[in-house]
Amino acid sequence: MRKKIAAGNWKMNLGRDQAVVLTQDIAEGSIPEDVHVILGTPFIYLHELNAMLQDVKGIELAAQNCHQMPSGAYTGEVSASMLKSIGIEYVILGHSERRMYFNESDELLRAKVDIALKEGLKVIFCCGEPLEIREANSQNGYVSRQLVNSLFHLSEADFSNIVIAYEPIWAIGTGKTASAEQAQEMHAFIRALVQEKYSAETAVDLSILYGGSVKSANASELFANPDVDGGLVGGASLDAQGFLSIINAF
Ligand code: PGA
Repeated sequence: MRKKIAAGNWKMNLGRDQAVVLTQDIAEGSIPEDVHVILGTPFIYLHELNAMLQDVKGIELAAQNCHQMPSGAYTGEVSASMLKSIGIEYVILGHSERRMYFNESDELLRAKVDIALKEGLKVIFCCGEPLEIREANSQNGYVSRQLVNSLFHLSEADFSNIVIAYEPIWAIGTGKTASAEQAQEMHAFIRALVQEKYSAETAVDLSILYGGSVKSANASELFANPDVDGGLVGGASLDAQGFLSIINAF
């Protein structure tokens, strides 16, 4: 049941025409049958890209955020049910940029996770420590608190719709990648936490992605680790050839 996943996080990049061309190029590329490709695009392109991908197997779309309330007077916001209503499968929640620039706390993220799952979305939940925590060797406690606070209230059935992305903040957009050993170590730690909280079966089925300066040059080494089930890729997902080589790096 555990999936190999290559997820792109476009963040706030690309105009409409570029978004369409990038999606087309990826859809026309070679994608191994056992790899799930997920494109995390700006809200505004989701509907059009979803229509484009109607007959394409193996590529799904993710929103990069959703609001924690079901509906109402929240000017400028997008709800989980709106995403579901246009056929979107995933939402990325808890990205460090949203935690940092939009003050998203563990408690807020817990509410977002709840509403997303209630509406039938799957959640790519991001966690990861800042540099000073890594330097103090406190990353395990830090990441475990993020998971406990925002995810571990879920039932085992709900938890099966979670993908975890471990993204050490010091490796995002910096060109500094966690070493394959650092990634494997944290992923194994996360899987052990999930096993302790839920069950061995749920832990084995969970896909845990690594994110932070993943590129074609380091993807194979990262993905070769037993507990690294793929990547959440920012910068390198904006280039079709580069992203396709990551997709083929398993
Ligand atoms: P990056 O971003 O690949 O550009 O480091 C990863 C992410 O923020 O998801």
